[in-house]
Amino acid sequence: MRNIDWESAINTRRSTRSFQNINVETEKMNMINSFISDMNMPFEHNVKVKKFKAKSDKKLYTVYNAPPDNLAFMSKTDVYSISAAGFVGEVVILYATSIGISTCWYGHYALAELESVMPHLGQYKNLQNPKWGYGKDEVEGERTICITPLGYGKQDGVRLFDRIQENLISYKRKPIENFLDGDIKKDELSPEILYALELARKAPSAANTQHWRFLISSDQKTISIYMPVGYKHIKWEHPDVDIGICASHFWLGLLMKNINCIVSLTVEDGRAVWRFQIE
Ligand SMILES: Cc1cc2nc3c(=O)[nH]c(=O)nc-3n(C[C@H](O)[C@H](O)[C@H](O)COP(=O)(O)O)c2cc1C
Repeated sequence: MRNIDWESAINTRRSTRSFQNINVETEKMNMINSFISDMNMPFEHNVKVKKFKAKSDKKLYTVYNAPPDNLAFMSKTDVYSISAAGFVGEVVILYATSIGISTCWYGHYALAELESVMPHLGQYKNLQNPKWGYGKDEVEGERTICITPLGYGKQDGVRLFDRIQENLISYKRKPIENFLDGDIKKDELSPEILYALELARKAPSAANTQHWRFLISSDQKTISIYMPVGYKHIKWEHPDVDIGICASHFWLGLLMKNINCIVSLTVEDGRAVWRFQIE
């Protein structure tokens, strides 16, 4: 984990929505496989990362053609598990970015199409409902929380949809000040915490909502990342996934600065709370 330039990966990653219809080279897929099997997460989880092949049409991602290679992030659907899926999934996505592969977090995949290319629902198979993603609420058993294409973006110009996404919602991030809860101000933060928070605020979130909040204790030894109690978004039913993604960026930031910490994930007031206790 430590020999990867996570800062560059975070700064390079963008949601790609226009793919060439070519396979990722076997060598790179092998690298992703071994990264997934060796990666050590700093908390308990049961997230599975599954490779699958998709057909080259718009059925799965609905607005663009799927490339051949894809990943599914699977877990139970309680708050803890889906937030863990965000954390684990983002570390894998950033690793893929670091070896030159383009990705796009995708929550509203077509469930019937995913089941047809990657059967996973088993006894819970009910393809009529829901249509997009695994559903709105916690359900029994494991589901695919999100998927991502793995591939190479089209070189020949950016499609209008991408341009709109880029200008309107993609990549624009709010400054750290907008996310600080508690009394500590940005200019009082230690350089290491500031660095890790700078990476955290660049995390991707569904519809770029950036609904995370950061709470730093007065001795700057405990950092909490969560969303406001009761936060809801009209389009994205699982904002705790995004909080896990943001938490992974913060953790990687501490890793880049060689700072050891104990990571805990708890569910408080119905939402995921990630805590980093600096040793
Ligand atoms: C959990 C999650 C789910 C997402 N689901 C979708 C989706 O269903 N469709 C889509 O086009 N983009 C989806 N996105 C991509 C976001 O729109 C994108 O990350 C955000 O606008 C920021 O842009 P960037 O990834 O280029 O930095 C999702 C992102 C996240 C983090």
